[in-house]
Amino acid sequence: MRIPRLSLRTKLVLSFLVVIAVGGLISLFFGQRLIKNTLITQAKAKVNHDLASAWIVFNERLNDIRDLVILTAARESLQEAILRNEMDLIQRRLDRVRTMYGLDVLTLTDAEGRVSTRTRSPETAGDDQSQDGLIRRAFKQGAVAHPQIVSRAELLKEGRDLAEQAYLEFIPTPKAAPSLENKETSGLMLKAAAPVIDENRRVLGVLYGGVLLNRNFEIVDRVKETVFKGEKYKGRDTGTATIFQGDLRISTNVADEEGKRAIGTRLSAEVKRVVLDEGRAWNDRAFVVKDWYITAYEPIRDVENRIVGILYVGTLERPYVDTANRVMLTFTILALLSVVFLLVMLYFATTRIIEPLRQMVAATHEIADGDLGHKVEIRSRDEIGELAASFNQMTEKLKAANEELIEWGTTLEKKVKERTKELMEMQSHLIQSEKLASIGKLAAGIAHEINNPLGGVLIYSHLLLEDAKKDSVQYENLKKIVKETTRCKDIVKGLLEFSRPKEPQMAPTDINDIVNRALALFERQALFQNIRVDKEFAALPQIVADGSQLQQVFANIIVNAAEAMDGNGTLIIRTVLDRQGGSLRVEFTDTGHGIKEEEMPRLFEPFFTTKEVGKGTGLGLAISYGIVQKHQGSIQVRSQLGKGSTFTVTLPVQKGESHE
Ligand SMILES: Nc1ncnc2c1ncn2[C@@H]1O[C@H](COP(=O)(O)OP(=O)(O)OP(=O)(O)O)[C@@H](O)[C@H]1O
Ligand SMILES: [Mg+2]
Repeated sequence: MRIPRLSLRTKLVLSFLVVIAVGGLISLFFGQRLIKNTLITQAKAKVNHDLASAWIVFNERLNDIRDLVILTAARESLQEAILRNEMDLIQRRLDRVRTMYGLDVLTLTDAEGRVSTRTRSPETAGDDQSQDGLIRRAFKQGAVAHPQIVSRAELLKEGRDLAEQAYLEFIPTPKAAPSLENKETSGLMLKAAAPVIDENRRVLGVLYGGVLLNRNFEIVDRVKETVFKGEKYKGRDTGTATIFQGDLRISTNVADEEGKRAIGTRLSAEVKRVVLDEGRAWNDRAFVVKDWYITAYEPIRDVENRIVGILYVGTLERPYVDTANRVMLTFTILALLSVVFLLVMLYFATTRIIEPLRQMVAATHEIADGDLGHKVEIRSRDEIGELAASFNQMTEKLKAANEELIEWGTTLEKKVKERTKELMEMQSHLIQSEKLASIGKLAAGIAHEINNPLGGVLIYSHLLLEDAKKDSVQYENLKKIVKETTRCKDIVKGLLEFSRPKEPQMAPTDINDIVNRALALFERQALFQNIRVDKEFAALPQIVADGSQLQQVFANIIVNAAEAMDGNGTLIIRTVLDRQGGSLRVEFTDTGHGIKEEEMPRLFEPFFTTKEVGKGTGLGLAISYGIVQKHQGSIQVRSQLGKGSTFTVTLPVQKGESHE
């Protein structure tokens, strides 16, 4: 897989985004739970409190009934009427009380518990109520009030309409516990009973009264009004109250799908198990009919402490959920805004980080293009600053190394040039000496052949000259023959000398002395009369050399100089000791006509001369060259045409053999 190329900035932003996203999601998740839990906990506490208020309303109604029954039972007129057995009167008075105070039932029994007056249904009187738990207790302990399940048979005695009011067919309810029954025929009644006692503390009977709670919405609506004060959310009542008979809603203001009171529907199985079966209170969210509510349920118990029903209050969960969602939405929007803000900040922050790096990259390009003097100008004190500093250090070193390399290159070039020059010089020397050697051989051969006949010619010419008369033409001619032959003989001698030089007779020699001797040979000659000779002699060690041969060399150079100056000028003779090189030099500098460039290479060739025929043989320098070479020395020439020439003879000084 190819990894796409991401810029540093993108990477930074992406990693920040990942951190923010992960952190944000985690805090959103926990935030939501926290807010919901907090709100729901608060709601639960409130609903619990509301249930307490509902109990007050519920018990108030029960106490009202009890008080009414007690007060009525305590009336003297009632006792008197009983004693006097005025049943019609009792019936009329009690019925007035029943209707006036909104009781469903108000019944009087005799001392045995048999019904003597049933105000609602006088014709059904005479049945035995002594087994009724409440009435039994009233006989025994006095006034008592409790909710009570009343069977259909009992209800029928009180009146068919009451039995009808209690009758409820179950409406199928989601989440309700399965039931074998499909209807409820008995009713749940708030019932109070009080004994009727005469002056002599004789129990004359029990008066009991009650209100059937089935389809009676007085209590639940009072709870809704007083506790929830008619609060609404999106057009719906938020607060609800219900009275259950068992798990059946018999009095409620929870609405069903059609908006009617949801009586006949049943409690969810989960709550039923906790409240009805286990007798515990429930304070949590619960599914009620068709919505989720925050609810509180508590069991209603009868006189025998049996659970007969449930009192419930609940408030719609939706407003709380919506509030939580709204808070979360606000929170999320704020979080998103801060992410955007962070990203903007991040953009600027990364610019601050990346800009120096960009500069560095640009600098590397500059340097790569050859500008080694380029410096990175970053003054931050962080790692990037350090990087820039070491980068600059690196380029400096690079520059130094590069310069060294260049310098090394130029010296190398110079050295190569020097060596090449030396080589070429050596080569030309070699060529010259080979050339000289071959010419020498040729000349030697010729000289040898000519030498003997020339000797004969000279001897016979001398003999003839002795015989000839002086002043005769013959004599003059013979003299010329002798002179020219002598010249030939000299040339041949020079040639032989050149071609077969004598082995030098080596002995410790003072070069300054040799130079002086060479000079002395000519000092008195006419050619030197107008020549100034400057001697600059250095103190020289004696060297091992052939003094007479070297004298010949110096003499030849001195004559050449004098001839080049045409007998007029200055000759400077300088001797120099070059201790380092282990050699000494003898320099002859004249102010003569100089040597042409093209003649330079030929100077040491035998027979090279620029002098008129008969004047020079051109062997002087050739012979000198041979002699100096035999001494392991050399002759160098420098010359400027029209100004003069310098001939330098260099000779080695034998080390450790100083003969000063
Ligand atoms: N000091 C000098 N100044 C100018 N030219 C010189 C000098 N020395 C030598 N030469 C030139 O070099 C040539 C060769 O000199 P070299 O001594 O070998 O022969 P020569 O002097 O001509 O004859 P020889 O020495 O045999 O009588 C000379 O002819 C001259 O042209
Ligand atoms: Mg000469």
